[in-house]
Amino acid sequence: MKISVIGGAGYVGLITALGASSMGHEVISTDIDKNKINNLQNNISPIYEDNLDSLLKYCNLKNNIRFTTDSKIAIKQSDLIIISVGTPTNSKGEIDLSQVEKVTFDLLENISSYKLIVIKSTLPITAVNMMKNTLSNKFKIDKDFDIISNPEFLREGRAVNDFYNPDRIVIGGETEKSINILKEFYDPLLKKELNIPKDIFISQNEIPIVETNLPSAQMIKYGSNAFLANKISFINEIAQICETVDANVNDVIEGMGIDPRIGNNYMQPGPGFGGPCLEKDLLALVELGNHYNLEATFMKAILERNERQVELILNKIISEVKGEDLIVSILGLSFKANTNDIRNSASIKLIDLLLDKGYKIKSYDPKAVYNLENKNYNQFNDLYSSLESSSCVVIMTEWEEFEGLDLNKTSELMKTNIILDMRNLLNLDKKNINKFKYYGLGN
Ligand code: UGA
Repeated sequence: MKISVIGGAGYVGLITALGASSMGHEVISTDIDKNKINNLQNNISPIYEDNLDSLLKYCNLKNNIRFTTDSKIAIKQSDLIIISVGTPTNSKGEIDLSQVEKVTFDLLENISSYKLIVIKSTLPITAVNMMKNTLSNKFKIDKDFDIISNPEFLREGRAVNDFYNPDRIVIGGETEKSINILKEFYDPLLKKELNIPKDIFISQNEIPIVETNLPSAQMIKYGSNAFLANKISFINEIAQICETVDANVNDVIEGMGIDPRIGNNYMQPGPGFGGPCLEKDLLALVELGNHYNLEATFMKAILERNERQVELILNKIISEVKGEDLIVSILGLSFKANTNDIRNSASIKLIDLLLDKGYKIKSYDPKAVYNLENKNYNQFNDLYSSLESSSCVVIMTEWEEFEGLDLNKTSELMKTNIILDMRNLLNLDKKNINKFKYYGLGN
């Protein structure tokens, strides 16, 4: 099949474009960012992601994929157009739909034969309605075009693995023809007939397909992310109560999770959910509620609880770390391990709050960088250099490297031995270990 991916240098777009080419399709991947496109042509990926470099190299060499900035040609030459453009939030907190509007305009100008438009990025339901209505003014549904929602469930850090081993493929469309074309697109993945590097894992499990109408597919995506965010806010609150009543949240999770209705997946207390997706999707549901006069009180509560989590960490530092000229070491900048993404990261929020309060910050992350011009902020390339003369170390991201923290060496380097382990990574009991005052979450 001839495929184009609009927004093909972004997270979802790039992985989808490479995935499509490894399924034997002829792919044109387009993006407005010239620099990223040049780099992709030269096997340089714009993001750090496990297995991505090898997949990019492999596809450039062996599969049929082209990277370009010319989305018009891409639209003209393809049968199936995958939309993966971003919907960033502007400074007022509103969703910026300019990229969606540009794609709609390009489609209006360049559709000359039947096109299946596949919405991959999580676009607001109202934006997809806008796209459909605008195109319907000029073209006929089923004859000239169809729009289908095919949400992705890729996790950063595991996105390549998730693409090839999805828990489900959701197809939300309005015509039989469009649904059948998308099934045909996925056929090589369903049959595990893929042209990929050997080190990428492919499970032999059958992949279920969920067929729905268009808004249901969009709501599956929103509902899934909102539910995941809900689990995190829930367990963070339970952990806080555990601390107060002297319970141990790890035991509580284990005991609760044995009940198959509850399970213990995605139940790790932490510094609050970050990243580009969960908060954005909750806000979109709140916005959708406002649009239809339905107040999304539950979604708001999940967000509020998440905001509070960083403040609780700040308050703990203020109450525990006292004195003049205090240095706090922050371990981990990315919003979770195995990615260099710092968007919406709790760690970055904490650093900004601490700097406002007059603390000096030393940070370390194996992959992520926080480019901040501030005389009180320094990022180090080595974990132990970031601990020197520090009064408190705060583990914010669950990088494997931090699990093996050498407590003797750490104790020698630090001024005051306080560890705030906001990922329960070291899992020490609340007692003095190697001269440390150790605080985890929920114990
Ligand atoms: C999330 C969803 O998990 C994906 O299914 C979805 O496709 C993606 O958003 C998206 O919409 O594109 P992602 O944002 O990559 O994926 O990250 P998650 O692994 O879900 O983690 C989100 C945040 O929750 C991180 O800050 C993480 O540290 C935190 N978290 C996660 C916890 O605090 N505890 C947990 O048990 C799990």
